[in-house]
Amino acid sequence: MENGKVAFITGANRGLGLETARELGKQGIVVVLGSRDPKKGEAAAVKLRDEGITAETLGFDVTKSQDHQKAYDYFAKKYGRLDRLRCCAKHSRRTFLRLSHSRKNCCRSYAKLRQAES
Ligand SMILES: NC(=O)c1ccc[n+]([C@@H]2O[C@H](COP(=O)([O-])OP(=O)(O)OC[C@H]3O[C@@H](n4cnc5c(N)ncnc54)[C@H](OP(=O)(O)O)[C@@H]3O)[C@@H](O)[C@H]2O)c1
Repeated sequence: MENGKVAFITGANRGLGLETARELGKQGIVVVLGSRDPKKGEAAAVKLRDEGITAETLGFDVTKSQDHQKAYDYFAKKYGRLDRLRCCAKHSRRTFLRLSHSRKNCCRSYAKLRQAES
């Protein structure tokens, strides 16, 4: 870690998430690309690594509460911290509300991830 920081970006295999990861990576921050399709995530990470950025991937579907826990565990175990969290994963509000049970769990897990930022 060049500047000692690590970031998690959800929905990072394309669009705003990928550009956000690129910008953070250019600052020397290790970027972990959250992607619901690990192959797409790895393809995006390869592009960033080709640009000299330290990029990893983590399978992450924002609608799956178990993935939030998995992400928390990943950062806690590998880095013991999370310096930046950028939520760029697209999901419709209706889908999110339909998953009201998951929503509570997701919020709790996001709160946990944010705690890890300190
Ligand atoms: N672009 C803008 O100008 C703009 C402006 C304001 C706000 N926003 C908001 O910012 C977010 C990202 O915008 P964007 O333009 O980058 O959208 P995008 O190009 O459609 O990219 C969305 C990203 O979210 C991922 N994603 C979709 N559903 C997911 C899920 N359930 N779990 C995890 N990842 C998921 C997609 O993965 P797949 O490749 O697997 O589909 C993709 O990587 C959206 O919520 C959008 O409404 C965008």
